[in-house]
Amino acid sequence: MAQTKRSLSGIRVTGRFHLGNYLGAGINYVRLQDEYESYIFVADYHTLTTKPNAHDFTDDLYDMVMDLIAIGIDPERTVLYRQSAIPKVAELTLLLAMVTPLSWVQRVPTFKEKVRDQPDNVNLGLFEYPVLQCADIVIVKGDVVPVGRDQAAHLELTREITRRFNRTYGEVFPEPQIVLNPDAPLVKGTDGKAKMSKSLKNIVGVTDEPEVIRKQVHSMVTDTKRVYKSQPGHPRSCNVCAFYKFFFDDWEHYWELCRKAEIGCNDKKKLLAERIIERFAPFRERRAGLTREYVDRVLDAGAERAQDVAGRTMVEVRQAVGLPPYRDR
Ligand code: TRP
Repeated sequence: MAQTKRSLSGIRVTGRFHLGNYLGAGINYVRLQDEYESYIFVADYHTLTTKPNAHDFTDDLYDMVMDLIAIGIDPERTVLYRQSAIPKVAELTLLLAMVTPLSWVQRVPTFKEKVRDQPDNVNLGLFEYPVLQCADIVIVKGDVVPVGRDQAAHLELTREITRRFNRTYGEVFPEPQIVLNPDAPLVKGTDGKAKMSKSLKNIVGVTDEPEVIRKQVHSMVTDTKRVYKSQPGHPRSCNVCAFYKFFFDDWEHYWELCRKAEIGCNDKKKLLAERIIERFAPFRERRAGLTREYVDRVLDAGAERAQDVAGRTMVEVRQAVGLPPYRDR
């Protein structure tokens, strides 16, 4: 019987899940569980490139995993684990590095961004980040990788490294395909400038309490060309209107009201906040029933399964590269 195809994705520890995470990739994590053997992990090694002490993000890590379960990741169907539970991924990173030309990594845009963001901590781990990401994917022989658009360059590099590895040592890995959510509106954070990111404090939460969501939505920058409610709005360039495309089936109706100045920016925010609160109510409820003990059990079980798969891949990899087999201890 042919092996069921595998889906894999990772997410850095940034605290609670926000709308950008959910629309960009979260929806696909949930959807792909039905068709694929599915793997989702919390990228704690990757998080160390910006927050060097993992003790400092323990709380955020629990929040993240609880949110993943809350949005519909079912630990019975998805192998949910911490990246560092598979130390062999570090060995694979080292081996992949041997077939990765320096120039490929030098042109990765996220590295340049980080150099700008944290000039006093430009560490080698940041540079190696996309090679580790490739190892994450191929160690479970991932076929498809649901991620947000911001990960396109990393995925392209993963494919290049995979091809180069296979050409050098034989066909060990499938070439992973990126899976984007074409319906995700191109929305920005509440500041209307940058993409949503917890560190920029411009997020709308997915499992946050209604009061918090109301506040976040209320802080959104809207149509900057519209000063008075009596002026016609410009829904095409308004961030709040962009969200309507996702949250309202009859978004066109609201866009029209906005153009005709029959609805104001504040009214639109109020409607949007209530709609988000309503849509995500089941997520909030599910999350309220989760405990840290439960998360620990889920991650332990996931670690075992992921290690098993990774172990088998690495036996093949060592053989292909010509290294001696692991010695049993
Ligand atoms: N770099 C990804 C992000 O910032 C997280 C990540 C790490 C990842 N390893 C991965 C995503 C493997 C997909 C597959 O969102």
